[in-house]
Amino acid sequence: MRLLVTGAAGFIGSTYVRVVLEERPDDEIVVLDKLTYAGRRENLAEVEDRITFVEGAIEDPQVVREAMEGCDAVVNFAAESHVDRSIAGQDVFAITHVIGTGVLLDAARELGVARYLQVSTDEVYGSITEGSFTEESPLRPSSPYSATKAAGDLLVCAHVHTYGLEAVICRGSNNYGPRQYPEKLIPLMILNALHGDHLPVYGDGRQVRNWLYVEDFARAIDLVLREGRPGEVYNVGGPDEKENIEVVRRIVELVGADESLIEHVRDRPGHDFRYSLRSDKVQALGWRARVRFDEGLERTVQWYRDNAWWWEPIRSGEYREYYERQYGRKLGERQAG
Ligand code: NAD
Ligand code: DAU
Repeated sequence: MRLLVTGAAGFIGSTYVRVVLEERPDDEIVVLDKLTYAGRRENLAEVEDRITFVEGAIEDPQVVREAMEGCDAVVNFAAESHVDRSIAGQDVFAITHVIGTGVLLDAARELGVARYLQVSTDEVYGSITEGSFTEESPLRPSSPYSATKAAGDLLVCAHVHTYGLEAVICRGSNNYGPRQYPEKLIPLMILNALHGDHLPVYGDGRQVRNWLYVEDFARAIDLVLREGRPGEVYNVGGPDEKENIEVVRRIVELVGADESLIEHVRDRPGHDFRYSLRSDKVQALGWRARVRFDEGLERTVQWYRDNAWWWEPIRSGEYREYYERQYGRKLGERQAG
């Protein structure tokens, strides 16, 4: 099987490539990645000589065609993945998630690719106070990130319906694990705690996320790519729901930092309170999460402790400016927790 994996220089895509090459060493993998601030060749260092890497954007039809030629399947991870950045400016989110997805779908159809998998998110359903979303739940995205991801999903459905493309969609809950860019809650808190910096918790920190270890998501995606029914959506939820404040306190404990570093700051605008997924459909295909949150978090903290070479260049680069913009003022105006 020859796979085109887009966005594989990022957190989840690079994990997926490693999982595939471990399980099926004979598969051929072409990676197409624009190398945004979140895309790093280092993430693929262990498998560099086993893949073909193409630097380019999924919204570029020519690059996409060349990379996709001869592939049996496409897995689309390419995205702008951070909600806070989408609140600051949505354009690049629309370009990648809507235009880019459309370009990939057109090329897949024209080149007769047998299988297309769209990597999507539980955020397309919006927030839920009680119970869990199924694949039939209506789409009610709240942020520019999730609205443009939902639009990408709808384009996939349109290509299934109109052209009979054999596409599937996988909607995952919050991933965590090694190589996640430190703008996201867990790596941000680990690195700040290691440095003795403030730990900026949005609002009261009672929001709930459904945590999924990244290798578990990668395995689910691979299973759905192979065994999922064309035209279907598959939710992939993590085994543990946690309040943000509980996650941050556990990180403080694992790092051996001081709880006084926790600072409640101004909340994210339109902040979704809780995500929760039912994953019966993917479980019926045989998928189970293997890593529970306590174990996954310990592994993740240990990975960041052991791999300063990975995050040091990030913390001193673009991320510094982003952090200042995002947190500079917030950290100045402490909130009641
Ligand atoms: P990431 O930000 O770590 O990586 C995104 C990758 O996509 C980067 O390598 C980047 O260079 C590349 N990219 C961005 N725009 C591109 C474009 N226009 N053309 C080509 N490449 C482009 O993201 P991630 O956390 O690994 O997320 C991967 C996918 O999984 C995304 O589609 C995201 O919506 C989805 N998802 C993420 C989570 C999560 O918790 N992180 C959960 C569920 C679903
Ligand atoms: O649910 C899946 C989604 O999970 C993915 O589709 C997104 O790509 C991914 O970024 C993630 O979105 P979230 O917004 O849930 O993740 P984030 O790590 O940004 O935030 C997790 C929670 O922590 C959320 O309730 C906001 C809160 N938070 C986040 C940051 C960065 C804080 O309290 N402080 C912070 O500094």
